[in-house]
Amino acid sequence: MAIESGGVAGQELSAERTVHVMKKERNTKMTRLGFTLTFLTVVCCSLFLGGCDRGKEQEALAEAAAARAALAKAQVAFAKSEKERNILQSELDAVIEERDNLQEQVKELTKERDEAVNKAKAAQTATEEDLMNQLAAQLEKVSELQAQNKELQDAIDQLLIDFKVGEVTEVVKQSREPDVIFVPTPQDVVEKMLELAKVKKDDLVYDLGCGDGRIVVTAAKKYGCKAVGFDIDPQRVKESLENVEKNKVGHLVKIEQEDIFTLDLSKVNVVTLYLLPSLNVKLIPQLKKLKPGSRIVSHDFAMKGVKPDKVITLTSKEDESEHEVYLWTAPLKEEAGEDTEAEEETETEEEASTFFE
Ligand SMILES: C[S@@+](CC[C@H](N)C(=O)[O-])C[C@H]1O[C@@H](n2cnc3c(N)ncnc32)[C@H](O)[C@@H]1O
Repeated sequence: MAIESGGVAGQELSAERTVHVMKKERNTKMTRLGFTLTFLTVVCCSLFLGGCDRGKEQEALAEAAAARAALAKAQVAFAKSEKERNILQSELDAVIEERDNLQEQVKELTKERDEAVNKAKAAQTATEEDLMNQLAAQLEKVSELQAQNKELQDAIDQLLIDFKVGEVTEVVKQSREPDVIFVPTPQDVVEKMLELAKVKKDDLVYDLGCGDGRIVVTAAKKYGCKAVGFDIDPQRVKESLENVEKNKVGHLVKIEQEDIFTLDLSKVNVVTLYLLPSLNVKLIPQLKKLKPGSRIVSHDFAMKGVKPDKVITLTSKEDESEHEVYLWTAPLKEEAGEDTEAEEETETEEEASTFFE
């Protein structure tokens, strides 16, 4: 179309352009061809090569199939083993759980055992402590008893030193009941007894069963003589000592707690009695040892078998009653007509008992 519209130049240009276009078209075609040839070559080569690998491919496919089969088998085996593993796992879990339970039980038992052991230990300790405390208390008691025992022994030793064994025995012996109760002689009768006995300053007077000590106190006060009062009753001894102190005759009068039936009367000048007829008789063996000239005076009661030197009767102003006083002088004289006297004595004894009651 450009050739038709331009001159020669135009025609030439257009030819050139045409050539150029034609060249360009040719080159394009050549390029295309080149590409096509290359493509074909590649395809051919590929086809060739593909034909060469088909055997291998078959082989590979077979291997792949075998591998797939093996894989499937392995998968089955795996599934199976997985199942077994799961079973084993659950069994293992159960065993583990059981073991844990057992461990828990062991733990509990161990705890209980430890507690029991601790309790037993504590109980044992407590028992030991108790025993030790008891032992300590007993030892303390033993010590106390030993101390008391020592104190008692010391006291006994002291007593033995103070009184000597013989004297202690004597005190015990004298602690028996009196043979007759205490009934005081009225004071005017006391004075009559001493008057009848003719007491002198140099005499030693014994009152056997002295009661409150009135006879020995009166003898010392009135005659200035020495006198000893004996009584078995500690209360009477106490009262006599108070009487001696009250009348300030301690320098002349002694009071002793003695049983009158144990006394030695060999040094006595005057014996005064207010006992019972039978006790007077019982004293005869001792009275027989009196020095000659010694006197015995007895308030109200005679002495069976021994003749009195004198018997007087007086009425006391104190009780306005009649009282008798008997006098004997050593050596004692036996009385005649014992039988009759014996009957009289029995009567007198009964009267005396009634009197003292
Ligand atoms: C009836 S009272 C006489 C008291 C005092 N002689 C008087 O005349 O007043 C008798 C006393 O003798 C005492 N006696 C009794 N049996 C005795 C004995 N075996 N030895 C010493 N005294 C005894 C009694 O304790 C009581 O004090």
